[in-house]
Amino acid sequence: MKILEDRILRDGQVLGHDVLKVDNFLNHQVDPMLMEEIGKEFHRLFKNEKITKVLTVESSGIAPAIFTGLAFGVPVVFARKHKSVTLKDELYTSVVYSYTKKTSNHIAISKRFLNEDDRVLVVDDFLANGQAVKGLIDIIDQANASLAGIGIVIEKTFQKGRQLIDKEGIHVESLARIKAFEDGKVVFVNDEEA
Ligand code: G4P
Ligand code: NA
Ligand code: NA
Repeated sequence: MKILEDRILRDGQVLGHDVLKVDNFLNHQVDPMLMEEIGKEFHRLFKNEKITKVLTVESSGIAPAIFTGLAFGVPVVFARKHKSVTLKDELYTSVVYSYTKKTSNHIAISKRFLNEDDRVLVVDDFLANGQAVKGLIDIIDQANASLAGIGIVIEKTFQKGRQLIDKEGIHVESLARIKAFEDGKVVFVNDEEA
C-alpha cells in the first residue's frame, strides 16, 4: 500500500536491526486518516470472505481494527491482556509469548462476543513472530468460529510469523512488507518478489 510505505519511509525509525518505531502514526499518536485508508484497503482485499467480526489484541491493533470494522460494517472485538483469572469460565483465553519482550501474556475474550456463526477477520499492527496471531487463532478455534483471513498492517518478512501462518493455508494480506533494515533504512519486499 503506497501511502503506508511512504509514511513508513517518512516517519518510521529503525531501532537496532529488527524493530521499526512507528509511534508517530500507529503505536502512540494515531493518524485516523491513514487508519481509514487501511480499513478500506482491508475491505477491498477481504470483501468476498463474508466477514462478521474483526478481531485484534489490545492495544496497538485496535486503531486499524476499528476502521476495518467500519469499512465492513461489523463489530470489532479486542482481546484483553488480562492478569486476573476471575470469571475464567466466561472467557476464552490463550497465552501469547513475546520473543521481543521475553514475557508471556494471557489474552482473553468474553464468550459473549464470539461464536460458531462468526467468520472472523484478524487484524494486527505488526506481524513479527506471529505469536499474537497464533493466540487469536487458538481463541477462534475454542469458539468454533471460522477464521476468514488475517490482515496485517506491517509485516517483517525476515521473522518467523508469516511462515507459521502460511503453513496453515490461511488468507493473509499485509499492507507493507519489510524484508530488511539496512543501515537504518527500511527495505520493502518489491512487487516481483511478493
Ligand atoms: P508477535 O506477536 O508477532 O510474536 O510479536 P513479538 O512477540 O515479536 O512482538 C511483541 C510486541 O511488539 C507486539 O506488541 C508486537 O506488535 C510488537 N512489535 C513486533 N515487532 C515490532 C516492530 O518492529 N515495531 C513495533 N513498533 N512493534 C513491534 P504488543 O506487545 O502486543 O503490544 P501493543 O503495542 O499492541 O500493546
Ligand atoms: Na505493538
Ligand atoms: Na499488536
